[in-house]
Amino acid sequence: MAVHGVGLLTRLPLCVQRRSRVQRPILRLFSCPGTVAADPRREEQPSGSAETGSEDKTPKKRFSEGLYAVVEFCQKESVDSLQNGTHTPSMSTEAVIPFRSRYFNLKLKNPSNQASEQSCIQCSNQLPPSSKKVFELLRCAESIDDQLNSLLKEFQLTEENTKLRYLTCSLVEDIAAAYFPDCTVRPFGSSVNTFGKLGCDLDMFLDLDEIGKLSAVKTAGNFLMEFQVKNVPSERIATQKILSVIGECLDHFGPGCVGVQKILNARCPLVRFSHQASGFQCDLTTNNRIALKSSELLYIYGALDSRVRALVFSVRCWARAHSLTSSIPGAWITNFSLTMIVIFFLQRRSPPILPTLDSLKNLAGAEDKCIIEGNNCTFIRDLNRIKPSGNTETLELLLKEFFEYFGNFAFNKNSINIRQGKEQNKPDSSPLYIQNPFETSLNISKNVSQSQLQKFVDLARESAWILQQEGKDRPSASSNQPWGLAALLLPSIANGMALAKKKGKKPANETVKNLLESLKSNSAENSTNTNRKRTTSP
Ligand code: UTP
Ligand code: MG
Repeated sequence: MAVHGVGLLTRLPLCVQRRSRVQRPILRLFSCPGTVAADPRREEQPSGSAETGSEDKTPKKRFSEGLYAVVEFCQKESVDSLQNGTHTPSMSTEAVIPFRSRYFNLKLKNPSNQASEQSCIQCSNQLPPSSKKVFELLRCAESIDDQLNSLLKEFQLTEENTKLRYLTCSLVEDIAAAYFPDCTVRPFGSSVNTFGKLGCDLDMFLDLDEIGKLSAVKTAGNFLMEFQVKNVPSERIATQKILSVIGECLDHFGPGCVGVQKILNARCPLVRFSHQASGFQCDLTTNNRIALKSSELLYIYGALDSRVRALVFSVRCWARAHSLTSSIPGAWITNFSLTMIVIFFLQRRSPPILPTLDSLKNLAGAEDKCIIEGNNCTFIRDLNRIKPSGNTETLELLLKEFFEYFGNFAFNKNSINIRQGKEQNKPDSSPLYIQNPFETSLNISKNVSQSQLQKFVDLARESAWILQQEGKDRPSASSNQPWGLAALLLPSIANGMALAKKKGKKPANETVKNLLESLKSNSAENSTNTNRKRTTSP
């Protein structure tokens, strides 16, 4: 089957290729509905607040409106100079980077010459705060709710970091434009869904769809831009060919692009590389528009209630602290899966804190309709039309119950799915089954091994136990002991257990056993055979 909109472009006159060199980012930012950006103004909200959706009366921005926030913060003169064409069209890449950085309002330093501020990008991908700082911050917090909100504030992407992500996409876009003029490269995933932690990777989407649409009508000077649609046996092969070509380009000519790997046989083919100048680890994909929709969906869930992001960040930090997640692909749980798990848990509260995906679909209007490759990706996108939750549970309670819930979840027989917000029988024997929200026959955590799942369950149980002990006996403010969330983030929870033992508490296993016995009697049908072994053994 011929694939439309792909195939290498016939040779174009140079003037056409240069035409949009610097203007393209503006066009992209202003003209692509569905492009996303974290809303920098979110960071201005007081971190200590844990208001529910029902208390927050300010109109909420749609996912596609979020992108304007990036532009709003740019210096007006930079935008004007770009739009008036006062730049030199023949700028070298070295000149374009600082020029673009002005457009993104980024102050970039030259490491070799501090006097010349904008001649190249310094490694500006801010890293997460040191663990010393985190523990100090958590120690000084007034409550566990306060701890969760402080952690969110420290780890979330800053406005500058978000802009740097857009800037990096626009540089890659320039390279891809050598083959595909008018293509766009946009960030997705945690860079823009508001769940990104400082230091997270930069997922990029090479969008070629607009090209086919534009080529039918577009002329540039005397030249008609013509795209060849070549016969390729499948979309997958077309995707692999496109990424292979772009990967070569990045490897040979991409300024600051190092360690380029073409991972073309993956389920979703990609090119992975490090962008030295910005410090980002980048994954470039194409033809996975569904991933953009999941980014938009997560954005909506994150914006619906202020407790969502705080809880997700803490669970992500907890998982990272115990090596449940890793930046290296493997048999471990991903951050995306963890986010789904938290969303599912919040849908299960009574009353629910988050609506199911099916109910977001039922609220959708005609303008929200979206079918991608036969998958129904429709959901309401106007946040203001979603009724806020009446649930007023504290973050402290939610964190504790999260660990209890998943310490006791029947992973051996049930799957997690946010579409219906209820457990379902697992369709296969994968240890952990989390239904892909849009491609519903897929499991997003198929990679997770039984031993990794078991580690997650064990740590969840022990964390629930630690929090339960905390409730009974919290260290005084003057004490140096890690408490609350800090106790859960200790490199080994065994430390937390040691701490408890020092204070004369029951041995952990015995207490966990009692706790689980009481949980079991409360929720008999949730008890799991898979996970009981460890806690009932002496
Ligand atoms: P990532 O694995 O990079 O996750 O997938 P992430 O959300 O960006 O989290 P971190 O911070 O990098 O660890 C990028 C995006 O790809 C989509 C999701 O939108 C995800 O946010 N995705 C990923 C899927 O749609 N399905 C999957 O199975 C995996
Ligand atoms: Mg990512």
